[in-house]
Amino acid sequence: MNTTITPVGGLTAAEVRDALVAATAAPSLHNSQPWRFHCTPSAIELHADTSRAMDVADPDHRELVLACGAALLNLRLAIRASGTIPDVRPFPEQSHPDLLASVRPSARRPATPVERELAAAIPRRRTNRKPFHHDPVPTELQAQLRQAAEVERGWLAVLDPPQRQVLRELSRRAHQVQVDDPDFVAEWQRWTGRAEGIREGVPARSSGPAPEPQDEFVLRDFSGGTARTRVAGKDFEPEPLICVLGSFQDSRHAQLQAGMAMQRVLLTATAHGLASSFLSQVVEVPATRRELRELIGGGLWPQIVLRIGYGSPVPATPRHPLEDVVTGELAPNHSG
Ligand SMILES: Cc1cc2nc3c(=O)[nH]c(=O)nc-3n(C[C@H](O)[C@H](O)[C@H](O)COP(=O)(O)O)c2cc1C
Repeated sequence: MNTTITPVGGLTAAEVRDALVAATAAPSLHNSQPWRFHCTPSAIELHADTSRAMDVADPDHRELVLACGAALLNLRLAIRASGTIPDVRPFPEQSHPDLLASVRPSARRPATPVERELAAAIPRRRTNRKPFHHDPVPTELQAQLRQAAEVERGWLAVLDPPQRQVLRELSRRAHQVQVDDPDFVAEWQRWTGRAEGIREGVPARSSGPAPEPQDEFVLRDFSGGTARTRVAGKDFEPEPLICVLGSFQDSRHAQLQAGMAMQRVLLTATAHGLASSFLSQVVEVPATRRELRELIGGGLWPQIVLRIGYGSPVPATPRHPLEDVVTGELAPNHSG
């Protein structure tokens, strides 16, 4: 698809392009990139691309909406970095539920230092599946991460050691449920480069070390069998910072908002030199998600589990070219 990017509202074509590049740098389950953008003369629309959903791992498309929320935060921040206020309308048309948001550039106002710092972190944020250094994340920084979630109306629960112990068991159970399901395994293979002729998803170079029995958490192995066992004696950090990003509701709207909160936490972490990765098995299996909800007090809907710490650099994971996700005229229900 060959799409010419044109000005939107007061944004120049170059500013629109930068904002779209920023949006597509968002994380997504198995790097599925389940979004589409449609530019009108006055707005950038964010649509869910349900043709790229994980129907087995994410049958309700909750994680798909989280990823789109992350893309929406990036879009907002990039527009702010250009000195423009984005007027965001979530779910602007009831009859088109896949139209997740419409973003209209409105008045000009210089970005704040925090907005600039977060926008600059967008291309530097990566999922880092490697062991982190053993230095703990200082409590002041943990407070900033919690505040980042709250700014976007989310809640970040930092797990204490006994809670981590319970999470560890929940993760193992969830992982087992998933690997025992042939449909899950087939979908996993399609999106991790293991199925023949498919070059989608997470490349092997982005995987962590081969899983080992003593690991505190079962991390997904994206290596396609090529992961190297870590150097003897080198292990995952002994006191990982494990956080659960929760929302107060579990509606579509709340999930989109939670995606923005998740991304603000990740970008705040990146801006402070921290690395991060995801542990999502436990929130994908309904029974373990319910138990995790109880573990964090019963009042929040767990949306995603994050591991945060000091890591070594990892390579970027590729994205589709912009032209593949920015469409011209969209049919009203293009994404079914
Ligand atoms: C909702 C969601 C769930 C994810 N779950 C996992 C996971 O369980 N394990 C993992 O290693 N990565 C997980 N990821 C990270 C993606 O694989 C990653 O974002 C994608 O490969 C793109 O790479 P990047 O984050 O480095 O840009 C998840 C990302 C999102 C947004």
